[in-house]
Amino acid sequence: MPKAKVFVTHPLYPEAQKLLQAHCDCEFWSKPERPTGGELLGRLKDKEGLVCLLTERVADDLLRAAPKLRIVANVAVGYDNIDLPACTKRGVVVTNTPGVLDETTADFAWALLPAVARRVGEGDQYVRAGNWKGFDFDQFCGTDVWGKTLGIVGFGRIGRAVARRAFGFGMKIIYNSKTRASEEVEKEFRAQYRGMDALLAESDFVTLHVPLNGDTRQLFDASKFFRMKPSAFLINTSRGPVVDEAALVHALEAKKIAGAGLDVFEQEPFVHSGLKRPNVVLAPHLGSASNETRAKMAMVAAQNAVALFQGQRPPNMLNPEVMHNG
Ligand code: GLV
Repeated sequence: MPKAKVFVTHPLYPEAQKLLQAHCDCEFWSKPERPTGGELLGRLKDKEGLVCLLTERVADDLLRAAPKLRIVANVAVGYDNIDLPACTKRGVVVTNTPGVLDETTADFAWALLPAVARRVGEGDQYVRAGNWKGFDFDQFCGTDVWGKTLGIVGFGRIGRAVARRAFGFGMKIIYNSKTRASEEVEKEFRAQYRGMDALLAESDFVTLHVPLNGDTRQLFDASKFFRMKPSAFLINTSRGPVVDEAALVHALEAKKIAGAGLDVFEQEPFVHSGLKRPNVVLAPHLGSASNETRAKMAMVAAQNAVALFQGQRPPNMLNPEVMHNG
């Protein structure tokens, strides 16, 4: 039997690439820029599989142009770049990469949080610019992290990994999520549930760990910033559109909050000029960006695609009803 034709929108780590190539007839996109929608459309005409990054938008127009497509394997845990109902309607399986990036993303939230509280970015720029004249008792005094209250919005795997790291900082941990966690989970993560308004009023640091969907788009709007303490910081390693960026800029300008650590933006790679201020630490979507984790993500995506072409259920199916139907 001929191997299934698969388009892969980025070179993968060697192990993942080897696995895919052993089972599929792969075409890799290796240009430095991301493929445009038109480019994808052309490449997918005869393909049965697509392995893609979160920068690729998969919507009905693309699916219409790819009549043989059977699977979209996203190399990411978030899948807001994919129109899942459209894929389901056309019988295309969609998979993601849950589980392998939780600790790495939690690490990164914890890189941003002390960085903004303790003014690491400002200090770094100051030293590099050659401005440092020696120890100064009053210079770059920030805000303590230790002993403060951490408010976690979204208490899934990543939110919980963030909570575990807060133990060492002696923090009080509160959380809000769509469904309240069990008593055992709350105990294990030393976390207390709060309604959103109570969480915002009580937190010294608010960190976002929700997926982007209809319920969470622009969840953090002006009304949320209004409820935060003026001394509080916002950390976002989830998805940019969870935050109304214009409202965040306004909250920063009006000193409604003290600062922010941002890894994600509403319209990446565009960054609102109002966010380029000293009390905001900016990162270019690096949450899962460690070599170890990116290799695992690539492998999980490859395994999902290969499973389907071997007639098995891909381990991380987001629309299992497609396989039930067919
Ligand atoms: C990264 O942002 C991911 O969703 O995996």
